[in-house]
Amino acid sequence: MAIERLDLWGSDEEPRLSAVLSECWEMLLDGANQTQHDFHTLALATGGGAQGCSLRTVVLRAADRETREISFYTDLRSHKVGEIEADPRVALLFFSHTDDTQLRIQARARIHCGDALAAAAWAEVPPHRRRDYMVSGPPGLPWAWPTSGLPPALEDRAPSDEESRIGKGNFAVVVCTVRQMDWLYLTPYGHRRATFAWDDEDRLQTSWLVP
Ligand SMILES: Cc1cc2nc3c(=O)[nH]c(=O)nc-3n(C[C@H](O)[C@H](O)[C@H](O)COP(=O)(O)O)c2cc1C
Repeated sequence: MAIERLDLWGSDEEPRLSAVLSECWEMLLDGANQTQHDFHTLALATGGGAQGCSLRTVVLRAADRETREISFYTDLRSHKVGEIEADPRVALLFFSHTDDTQLRIQARARIHCGDALAAAAWAEVPPHRRRDYMVSGPPGLPWAWPTSGLPPALEDRAPSDEESRIGKGNFAVVVCTVRQMDWLYLTPYGHRRATFAWDDEDRLQTSWLVP
């Protein structure tokens, strides 16, 4: 199904909420597929840590409107995984300077490691990127000197399939099921804001909001 891109000020008509929701998913899909897209990276907030809340950048890997799922990859040993296990409620923040759009998402996250979904994703990770999951200690482990955490032999080359097997064990896909989206569109003529929230029965409630 072709989705019309939003052009708020190209016409006299205000968009419908359904068109805004389609645009949100279109931007998420573009962000997952285009490395230069502003939505390719996002800020992920977790609340399950000792400090109360924690925030970091991750790369958007997949977005699926039908299942309302948004995915990123991570190292199973990283702090965020323990935080998500303690409390799966996460917040995701996207901002596109190009499209003057902020998207705030509340979601429930689940960790996939060692299953079919993780194996399929791992198969798509290029060899040089597999090194991200081959650092010798958990991300955030204190070290006595500035370190890549990699075995020295792998600092300037990609690992072989055999070598990268250890990375596969550390590799996790985090799938976030969207519960609520808050869309904010900035314009010189006054901003626009809308909310989309799904209840436990997947019923959608939408509303315009005062920006
Ligand atoms: C541009 C950019 C992209 C990143 N992408 C990811 C990612 O996709 N997954 C990930 O786990 N960490 C990614 N990181 C590193 C995280 O921001 C963070 O430093 C690391 O995951 C440790 O976070 P934690 O201690 O909260 O678990 C990225 C960092 C930057 C700057």
